Amino acid sequence: MIPYRSVLNALHDYVPGKSIEEIRELHGLAQVIKLASNENPLGASPKAREAYLQAVSELHLYPRGECPHLRNALSARFALRPEQLILGNGSDEILAFIALAYLEPGTEALSCAPTFSVYEAVTLAMGAAYRSIPLLDWKFDLEALAGAVTPQTRVVFVCNPNNPTGTWVGRAGLLAFLRAVPSNVLVVVDQAYSEFADDSDYSDLTVDLSEFSNLLLVRTFSKVWGLAGLRVGYAMGQPEVVSKLWKVKPPFDVNTAAQVAATAALDDREHLQKTLQLNSQGKAQLLQGILPLGLQVLPTQANFLAIHVGPRGPALVAWLESKGMIIRGLKNFGIPEWIRVTVGLEAENRRFLELLLEARQNGFI
Ligand SMILES: Cc1ncc(COP(=O)(O)O)c(C=O)c1O
Repeated sequence: MIPYRSVLNALHDYVPGKSIEEIRELHGLAQVIKLASNENPLGASPKAREAYLQAVSELHLYPRGECPHLRNALSARFALRPEQLILGNGSDEILAFIALAYLEPGTEALSCAPTFSVYEAVTLAMGAAYRSIPLLDWKFDLEALAGAVTPQTRVVFVCNPNNPTGTWVGRAGLLAFLRAVPSNVLVVVDQAYSEFADDSDYSDLTVDLSEFSNLLLVRTFSKVWGLAGLRVGYAMGQPEVVSKLWKVKPPFDVNTAAQVAATAALDDREHLQKTLQLNSQGKAQLLQGILPLGLQVLPTQANFLAIHVGPRGPALVAWLESKGMIIRGLKNFGIPEWIRVTVGLEAENRRFLELLLEARQNGFI
């Protein structure tokens, strides 16, 4: 065997949401609905599709690694300087850049649990330690997290809104946290779902980047922007922090089609509004169907709901799959009695609710 880095032994394989194709083949189904990965049920913006198709004439050319147009569009949108931004092949890759640039053996990263598993994976891959504090009332426990910082702590990951719970922490709590954490600890706020957040207490913190030199905001085009298949994510922070990420970035990781489609998507206000409206209607529709069943649903600021279904959670997930409904069981997040359901189209949500009722009649809930 070729010797490899021993830290790999501590890593689990990432378990993604099941694909429509997999479930179709496995159960011989014609129709499968996927409400498992928090994608945009409307698909990509028509403007993004058009830009993507146009990119075909440039397939033989390397992309521009610095993503100038997309970077400029984002810096204008957030009133930042271009050197405050970096793009990557999905925000997963941005998280890997953070680990590559800031973590090494003898250092540690902190977060809460349950949360997005990639924070732990990228940390362990660097040979650094990963510690997590339990959520408090299903929310990031920022006080405990600040108290857990040690001289070894280099990075703290805060997922807001949190995946898989959808819960969020408000502006005052985040600012108090940023003041409590030493300025030589990088605070990464993962805002994959921030565009969906409409609570008056939710803040995207972009205006606070000038005050906190250790704050880094991470975002993605995979959720509200409907471009999960193209893989575009970005980070915003002070140039000193962002410049370290550029050092570990592969030169051509964000492809040409992804760059032009993401830039066009940003410009499509109409599609964004439609997406946000569909999400709030869909959330209301789902809650209206679920709450009468007496199930606990966590308050959410994202495009998904976390639902307590009880001890037969994993069996329910498998049964739903056999009926052509893919949702996310939260066993791998350490909460097997819970499921996470993405808000879909009206008919998709309706089908989920029908099946939930049938599941209750069949004793799964
Ligand atoms: C909280 C959070 N961060 C990051 C990601 C990664 O997104 P992507 O790599 O598609 O940008 C996800 C995807 O589910 C997520 O839920």
